[in-house]
Amino acid sequence: MTKRLIVNLFEMATPGHITHGLWRQPDNQRERYADVAYWTELARIAEDAGFDAIFLADVVGAYDVYDDAFEPALERGLQIPNLDPMLLVAAMAAVTDHVGFGVTFSTTYEPPFAFARRMATLDHLTGGRVGWNIVTSYLPNAARNFGLADQIPHDTRYEIAAEYVEVLYKLWEGSWDDDAVVVDKDAGVYSRPGSVRAIDHEGEHFRVAGPHLSEPSRQRVPVLFQASASKAGIAFAAQHAEVLFTADRPPGALERNIAAIRDESVRQGRRPDDTRFLVMATVIVGRTEQEAREKAERYRSFRDPEGAFIHMSVPFHPLDHPAELTVREALEREGRHDVIDAGALPLHLTVGQFARAVDEAWDSRFFAVGDPQQVADIIEGWLDDDGIDGINLRQYHSFDTARDFGELVVPELRRRGRMRERYEPGETLRERIFGEGPRLPDRHPAARYRGGAGL
Ligand SMILES: Cc1cc2nc3c(=O)[nH]c(=O)nc-3n(C[C@H](O)[C@H](O)[C@H](O)COP(=O)(O)O)c2cc1C
Repeated sequence: MTKRLIVNLFEMATPGHITHGLWRQPDNQRERYADVAYWTELARIAEDAGFDAIFLADVVGAYDVYDDAFEPALERGLQIPNLDPMLLVAAMAAVTDHVGFGVTFSTTYEPPFAFARRMATLDHLTGGRVGWNIVTSYLPNAARNFGLADQIPHDTRYEIAAEYVEVLYKLWEGSWDDDAVVVDKDAGVYSRPGSVRAIDHEGEHFRVAGPHLSEPSRQRVPVLFQASASKAGIAFAAQHAEVLFTADRPPGALERNIAAIRDESVRQGRRPDDTRFLVMATVIVGRTEQEAREKAERYRSFRDPEGAFIHMSVPFHPLDHPAELTVREALEREGRHDVIDAGALPLHLTVGQFARAVDEAWDSRFFAVGDPQQVADIIEGWLDDDGIDGINLRQYHSFDTARDFGELVVPELRRRGRMRERYEPGETLRERIFGEGPRLPDRHPAARYRGGAGL
């Protein structure tokens, strides 16, 4: 069977998300990110193009590891200023009927009860078109914004995330039965007592009484997205995630990585096709190859390589050192023995090699430039040879990236049976991705609380 491509448009409410420096293009619209018309226009373009979803990244701190200051990020509009993505979804939902929305929210800093209600609100307002990108937050500044002296250790953040989702599952799945809301005007009964219950959760990190304040929405639980690279993250994903972003890896390794996560999720009682794998991808298309190459060159000319160092929290300043020094020597010159001891950087590389590697990692392996046939050939290779299920399309230009994809790539992918001809009316995001019901399957851990069981 021909595998269909899942396509999300990758966004963030900020001038510079992941294509650093490109907001400076004279006709780019990034500086309009705080204007609601930017989002309604984008949502219509995405829906006209047939995207599965608009996927919104988020951070709750500034990038301040590079140069030990937030100013380099600030100056470049690199994820600061930014806005809360959840609030944008309501506006976009109002002008669309089909396109889905993925929203990033962290499990580390705000307790789960209010988030359960906010996400349920979005699932109601969108008619079941939302997903949640579960993140644990990697920025040290975020910890200091929420009253902590320093970051909670990485694996502890995943332990907190595990309890966080358990509370959510209890609220979303266990607190209200399907028959709870009766709206019986004659009898004066809005919701039926006996069909709604407290959850009385008492765990190591959270105490939540309940009941959940929102009645059941179409999906109850938003489609669960996650991006993981670590052992703890992958273990969490195998249990909970429905759609996973995998890190770029060399061809064979990516397949092995996908297989390992699938195997683990099957050991947890889930099915192999309960999880889908997406990668972040670049598609620069023109009517001719020449046009596409010129466009790519133009984008490249605005690129800010230092942006990658800031975004990846590189804890020293590679540009201050001769390229032939090793990373270890550069760190010694900066007196950063703490970084040397942490062992996270490739100390043996020269500074020049390190800078090139960061630069190349940034462009990623999933990079297609060409005419519609050429990029469709490459995308088909990603699906069939690399074993992925879809992409988060990286934006080089707003709104050209989305428009180009819709006008030039989508018709070609449809001809090849890789995208559907049209949306299915009334379909939830989960139905669109998995082709089954709007709710999580019984074998997902959230299902164990249904009907109040296991509370
Ligand atoms: C495509 C993609 C998108 C991501 N989006 C976000 C985001 O919006 N906010 C965030 O805090 N982390 C984001 N992350 C980081 C992940 O949540 C995670 O921290 C990272 O992949 C490292 O994995 P680990 O937590 O298993 O170490 C993203 C990662 C990827 C690959």
